[in-house]
Amino acid sequence: MQNNIFLGLFVGHNIVTLKKVDSTNTYLKQALSKSKPFAEGTVIMAEEQYQGRGQTSNTWISQAGKNLTFSILLNPSFLDVSKQFVLNRAVSLALNDVLRKYFGDEAKIKWPNDSYVGNQKIGGMLIENIIQGIQLKHAIIGIGLNVNQIEFPSELKHISSFKKILHADYDLQSILIEICAAIEARYLQLKSGKFDLLDTEYFEKLYQANEWKSYKIDGIIQPGKIYGISAEGYLQVETKAGSRSFGIKEIEFIKS
Ligand code: BTN
Repeated sequence: MQNNIFLGLFVGHNIVTLKKVDSTNTYLKQALSKSKPFAEGTVIMAEEQYQGRGQTSNTWISQAGKNLTFSILLNPSFLDVSKQFVLNRAVSLALNDVLRKYFGDEAKIKWPNDSYVGNQKIGGMLIENIIQGIQLKHAIIGIGLNVNQIEFPSELKHISSFKKILHADYDLQSILIEICAAIEARYLQLKSGKFDLLDTEYFEKLYQANEWKSYKIDGIIQPGKIYGISAEGYLQVETKAGSRSFGIKEIEFIKS
């Protein structure tokens, strides 16, 4: 099914809704590799994914028809590969902009790809870049947001949804449109070179920023304080042994 909704300049003008697909990111990636001419801002949305993918080869499981699972095509050829983390900042902020309307200051960005409300994960994103030379030719922005699901596997203690927190059902299409508009606004900030503003705002909205908390580092649970995110996207943490930078697999947040 394909329908067209008028919102901002381009993100979400073309929304392709699929009943069932392995993964919207994979679908979009394969379409691009076959030179399918999707316009920038096209959204591929699935009612059900049977092989949803998350960060670090995790799977993304979402009850059919209950949540948002979609991918947006962007063509950020104005960005060098070395700057790719700014796109992560812009999209994280866009999701946070929308979540703040529902959850206020409880909505946080958890480095590097999660959307949190309080201490619970409500959404995640998987950005996959297609690179040409030193530039980003395409970026596939995959987003999973838990909306109306209330039951989750028992091992996922820190997962939540709009409905679990606010005790009401929400219209998926309306939230999708809000997200498209927010991504477009943040993307335009990025395009106009407002990197410093995005960096500052990202840190302001960052989960556990400037607080001493427990982290697993080098296999040991120890205190740490997040004091920044490097331009390349590394988490900068003050530890008792000094300041260090971490990639996604090198540090674990310890939940209380
Ligand atoms: C994470 O938290 O690990 C990222 C989850 C990203 C899930 C979304 S759902 C839509 C898109 N298609 C996928 O296969 N993954 C992303």
